[in-house]
Amino acid sequence: MCGIVGFTGKRKAAPILLDGLSKLEYRGYDSAGIAVRDGSADAEVIKTKGRLSNLYNKTNGGESVNGFCGVGHTRWATHGEPSENNAHPHYSDDMNVIGVHNGIIESYQEIKDKLIRRGYLFHTQTDTEVLIKYIDYYYKKYKMGPIDAIAKTMVRIRGSYAVAVMFKDYPGEIYVARKDSPMILGIKDGESYIASDVPAILKYTRNVYYIGNMEMARLSGGEISFFNLDGEKIEKELTEIKWDAEAAEKGGYEHFMIKEIHEQPKAVKDTINSTIIDGKIDLTSVGLTEELIQSIDMIHIVACGSAYHVGVAAQYVIEDIARIRVRVELASEFRYRRPLLNKNDLVVVISQSGETADTLAALREAKSQNIHTLAMVNVVGSSIAREADNVFYTLAGPEIAVATTKAYSAQLVSCYLLAIQMAKVRGKVDDKKYKQLISSIEQLPWQIEKTLDNTERIQWFAAKFANAKDIFFIGRGVDYAISLEGSLKMKEISYVHSEAYAAGELKHGTISLIEEGTLVISVLTQSELYEKMVSNMVEVKSRGAYLMGLTSFGHYDIEDTVDFTVYVPNTDEHFAASLAVIPLQLMGYYMSLARGLDVDKPRNLAKSVTVE
Ligand code: AGP
Repeated sequence: MCGIVGFTGKRKAAPILLDGLSKLEYRGYDSAGIAVRDGSADAEVIKTKGRLSNLYNKTNGGESVNGFCGVGHTRWATHGEPSENNAHPHYSDDMNVIGVHNGIIESYQEIKDKLIRRGYLFHTQTDTEVLIKYIDYYYKKYKMGPIDAIAKTMVRIRGSYAVAVMFKDYPGEIYVARKDSPMILGIKDGESYIASDVPAILKYTRNVYYIGNMEMARLSGGEISFFNLDGEKIEKELTEIKWDAEAAEKGGYEHFMIKEIHEQPKAVKDTINSTIIDGKIDLTSVGLTEELIQSIDMIHIVACGSAYHVGVAAQYVIEDIARIRVRVELASEFRYRRPLLNKNDLVVVISQSGETADTLAALREAKSQNIHTLAMVNVVGSSIAREADNVFYTLAGPEIAVATTKAYSAQLVSCYLLAIQMAKVRGKVDDKKYKQLISSIEQLPWQIEKTLDNTERIQWFAAKFANAKDIFFIGRGVDYAISLEGSLKMKEISYVHSEAYAAGELKHGTISLIEEGTLVISVLTQSELYEKMVSNMVEVKSRGAYLMGLTSFGHYDIEDTVDFTVYVPNTDEHFAASLAVIPLQLMGYYMSLARGLDVDKPRNLAKSVTVE
């Protein structure tokens, strides 16, 4: 996804802009650029295709660019191929308006046609150039200043945007507007900052404002003013970011991903501790009342990617413990299928970033039907967090690697906590069982820690299969959900094709793909399904598969069937995903390492998919 930054203050802007963009590289990009103004002079615009280092080289680390006010951008192409010309910032031909944008202007073509009829020329294929020139058009037509011009533009476009613009007549000032795309504004010591995400400004300030949807702001040195669409001033509260800069860095690990894998005990512990008080689960901070929990008829869990896989695991857990019907859906499907929802349903959207476009749209679909919504997100103040009726914050801290690990684990345990509390409130578990379940949950952090002890075996095994062409992950019940996540981790960072399959489904076609030496990773933590799983494993082994078994300590008989075994600690089997997923995360990580790939920034992927 694109990343935007901005700065206005008493120091050279360019080095600060470049530093901010470097902290947003994880979002995925293909070109970059900055625009900096030195007083009332025309802005200097420098853009490059490719990595940010090209921009550093072109500007001598920003030192060769004068000016104390500027904007910057890393572009993840949506309209127009990756190129220097299509890179942001974009500007009106007379440099009256210069800006950067993260999002998609869906109605850009009709606006472009309108502006062409009014004499505007276009030099790029981007929707952003159209957006910037549209603002310029209203600025010149009504002569009522930047806020008015931006507001008139906002009400006439369809799409999503976090946009930051500078006007020639307003040196030292930056104007921003937001709809759906992420943006935060920071302030400190007479200077102000704009960023798509926290890591870009943590080095400079922890004091941030969250700009709301369809709101605008003016940044002028150490002052930030907010406006609604009518141009009326609105008050905003300053929020202190608790994350420290260190937490957003690698902390001595080779990659963010391995750091975050090892942060999982803390992420899970912090998330648990945020709701277990005096041995009881307290959802006050989430806002789910007992009355509402009693009234729930059905739960719809809606998400994308790994967050969706959390939902698949949660379905088994919630239905089995709380006895509430659960349906899990991909957000990109849910949002378009006109879902049939009942007034007593609860829609739970899960999202690490809180900015995933499909998940945000699914949330809005549920809200349009007046269905109660609960967001489970990791980023405070994110779009999804602010639009849901209730929010369950996972406390995983900043997750930088594109492949999610600690946020996934924090989401899992959050779902367990919901299931247990719902079961308690609805009388499905007695006090003894309630305490037992909570005790199992509270063991998870140290059990995850223990699972991280013997990573060398996993590393050796991953290297052995680094040239695999196909890898299959199979499981039943919760183990199927674990297989889904293990397969995605493998695919997204090692680029090795893999599939996750419900083990009972293999014989309905896919087993024809098993050849001599095909790696099949079999997950068996569910005792009731253990024998069935062994049968499925024998089926694939008889067709030449190389079998890895992933099971809990004690199931040593598995070694009669498999070629390689990984054991995880025993826990209440509802929660086994929290432990079994760890070796699979490590498998993906070490496979990527063995293949010499960019673990933290895999090709074609972005940390947060804020476009459809
Ligand atoms: C997971 O490793 C991927 N990065 C991806 O599937 C991700 O889970 C998905 O895009 C959802 O992101 P979100 O949790 O921020 O909504």
